[in-house]
Amino acid sequence: MNIITIDGPAGAGKSTVSKELARRLGYMYLDTGAMYRAVAWAARKKGVDTGDEKALSELCNDLRLDFDRDCILVNGEDISSLIRTTEMDRFSSEVSKVAVVREYLTGIQRELGRQGQLVAEGRDMGTVVFFRAAHKFFLTASAGERARRRKRQLRNQGKEVTYEEILARIEARDRADSTRSIAPLQVAPDCIVIDSSDLTVEDVLEKILSEIG
Ligand code: DC
Repeated sequence: MNIITIDGPAGAGKSTVSKELARRLGYMYLDTGAMYRAVAWAARKKGVDTGDEKALSELCNDLRLDFDRDCILVNGEDISSLIRTTEMDRFSSEVSKVAVVREYLTGIQRELGRQGQLVAEGRDMGTVVFFRAAHKFFLTASAGERARRRKRQLRNQGKEVTYEEILARIEARDRADSTRSIAPLQVAPDCIVIDSSDLTVEDVLEKILSEIG
């Protein structure tokens, strides 16, 4: 099994690093956060509440998720640009607490893992989904640094949000993702922790590549 897992909190740079790592190694890149966002988006569209497990289970049964390069499609519709909103940040975190949703997505993720070499990014890749992966990393950064990066990103998109507001949202999502009862964000005992607060993307990639050997 050739799987590299990269877990960590929101805004630690997992996506940039994982995507580039997959490109350099010729592996497939699996963005599992996008999968939770896709389910959240579909639930919102149908008006399904996160407390309604039965409706979420039906929703998952009817859902077809496809990947096409950097795009994610729900029942044939490309929703990639619709899932990166602050509303979906919060709603995907809510949906990710629900057991039926996690079971459904874990099944798809493992199936993709059986198909080939993978860089899998998320919250529970090394602890649950691919707990037997050969190489596990936990990429983190201080909440302040993650908020500054997010602020820069939003500014580049023409959106002005205060640092305090972004920091509060990041801390709230960290709390929700780390304290939920199923597959919470945790540092796997056998993973390598990388704090990217003072590192460039290239520095992080070099560390990972040298660990993989
Ligand atoms: O990585 P992201 O910000 O796109 O993830 C969105 C939400 O999905 C995140 O707040 C928690 C959830 N998630 C999860 O529970 N497990 C994963 N493997 C990936 C994401």
